[in-house]
Amino acid sequence: MTIERVGVIGGGLMGSGIAEVCARAGSEVVVHEIDAGAAEAALGRVHKSLDRALERRKLDEAARDDIVGRITLSTDLADQADRQLVIEAATENEELKKQIFTDLDNMVSDDDAILASNTSSIPITRLASVTRRPESVVGLHFFNPVPVMALVELVTTVKSSDDTELRARSYAEGLGKTVIVAKDRAGFVVNMLLVPYMLSAIRMYEAGVASAEDIDIGMRLGANHPMGPLELTDFVGLDTTKFVADVLFDEFKEPLYASPPLLSRMVEAGLHGRKTGEGFYKY
Ligand code: CAA
Ligand code: NAD
Repeated sequence: MTIERVGVIGGGLMGSGIAEVCARAGSEVVVHEIDAGAAEAALGRVHKSLDRALERRKLDEAARDDIVGRITLSTDLADQADRQLVIEAATENEELKKQIFTDLDNMVSDDDAILASNTSSIPITRLASVTRRPESVVGLHFFNPVPVMALVELVTTVKSSDDTELRARSYAEGLGKTVIVAKDRAGFVVNMLLVPYMLSAIRMYEAGVASAEDIDIGMRLGANHPMGPLELTDFVGLDTTKFVADVLFDEFKEPLYASPPLLSRMVEAGLHGRKTGEGFYKY
């Protein structure tokens, strides 16, 4: 059975991008947000991304309107009842996500529906275990910006079924993404490698080894990275980066995953990066 009806929980940086790529691929998408303002903001992000594609002549207006027409906004989780796949992309917080999975389990009526999380780090088993259908729960981890980044990590647990894995893989491939499969360990493949690198750059900056600009130029020009590590942290969100670091530290107890004090203070001060207008840089 092909997946045509998709739900996305949370329409922030990632959820809006996930909704866009699913709608581009022809799915009917219902985006769930906490209130009408957040839902409107989610649609605004989709429009901004599609307008960029329009400007670059990658899309015409009719195609843009078709894509937007396939996205519905909602603040009522009951609107997820008939979904065949729900991708949770709410704030990186374990208790919040567990509540969402508990509610989705009660709400989504199709026993074959896949419940997926876009979490950057939280073990999927913990989210699956609050449901009565752990065999249908996997991680589908997209990368930022979703319309551009070619990878999806598919995270399987000891409980997820082969059928769920197969259908989730086929859906992600249908979005034009390359899928890699990771076991259910905090951080999966990419963030287990990427986040310690970002934390090292923050420690380097905190120690005064070089300016933020020079650290970023160093990695852009010296290693051909599209963004330097501090720019990338601003792009990902300092709040999300700290949540991910804390989950990794909790899992492995390795100092390389410990959040540097500067990151903690910046998050506490509301400097969350691009999305709040200030992080290591001002926007
Ligand atoms: N939304 C949609 N499309 C976007 C976009 C956005 N936010 N930003 C850029 N694009 C598109 C542009 O439209 C353009 O598309 P075309 O080539 O089709 O015309 C293309 O991306 C390149 O854009 P630009 O030329 O404007 O800018 P750039 O060359 O500087 O690239 C970038 C921008 C793609 C974001 C690049 O800087 C980059 O790859 N940065 C690193 C991103 C990265 O590492 N992401 C992973 C973060 S970690 C993560 O996601 C996991 C986690 O759990 C935290
Ligand atoms: P964000 O802060 O931009 O967006 C989170 C959204 O979730 C907000 O719009 C918020 O209103 C919404 N939300 C919070 N509680 C909700 C609820 N109960 N129901 C519905 N919506 C709710 O965060 P983001 O960067 O989009 O991250 C979302 C998820 O994606 C996180 O798990 C994060 O770890 C993961 N992720 C982030 C990145 C990244 O680069 N930022 C990359 C890959 C994965």
